[in-house]
Amino acid sequence: MVFDHDCREGICGSCSLQINGEPHGPDRLITTCQLHMRKFNDGDTIVIEPFRAKAFPVIKDLVVDRSAFDRIQQAGGFISVNTSGNTIDANAIPIPKSDADNAFSAAACIGCGACVAACKNASAMLFTSAKVSQYALLPQGRVEATQRVLNMVAQMDQEGFGNCTNTGACEIECPKGISLENIARLNRELLSAQLKG
Ligand code: SF4
Ligand code: FES
Repeated sequence: MVFDHDCREGICGSCSLQINGEPHGPDRLITTCQLHMRKFNDGDTIVIEPFRAKAFPVIKDLVVDRSAFDRIQQAGGFISVNTSGNTIDANAIPIPKSDADNAFSAAACIGCGACVAACKNASAMLFTSAKVSQYALLPQGRVEATQRVLNMVAQMDQEGFGNCTNTGACEIECPKGISLENIARLNRELLSAQLKG
């Protein structure tokens, strides 16, 4: 029986399993590797399945291919920095504390895919919105913001993820507490980019 794991401390996002019908099992705000057997009783039957989504094809047993997330990241999850000698030190750019905090919270997404597995539409909106928000809130990310959101959403659709219907299951199952506010921000960023285009 094969399954993915790596860090065993909740930061790599590879140990993604559906346990008793819930991504990462019955506890909140943890990954599978942080779930203790003491959560279950002696004699319990524990049902473990791979995450199910058209965009996450099963490779073998409990291992699914989540490279669709990598391709969404590659479509815009980066900033371009001028290294010609005129680069401004990031720490020298004033940023409102609330923006810095919200960007940091969005950056906590570990790309585990629980949001997709939890969603009845297998939507990747929470993941994509976290990646878009991480940059949209910071001045360094504003430079390429228009193209970033257009490209990442286009890639998300191309990968076969479903549409968001505001069910909210993603937020409940996310081990990193990524908020639905990020989806609202993504929708605002997308609308603004489409109006410019
Ligand atoms: S938004 Fe949450 S559930 Fe989705 S990939 Fe990121 S950490 Fe995992
Ligand atoms: S093994 Fe890395 S998050 Fe679980």
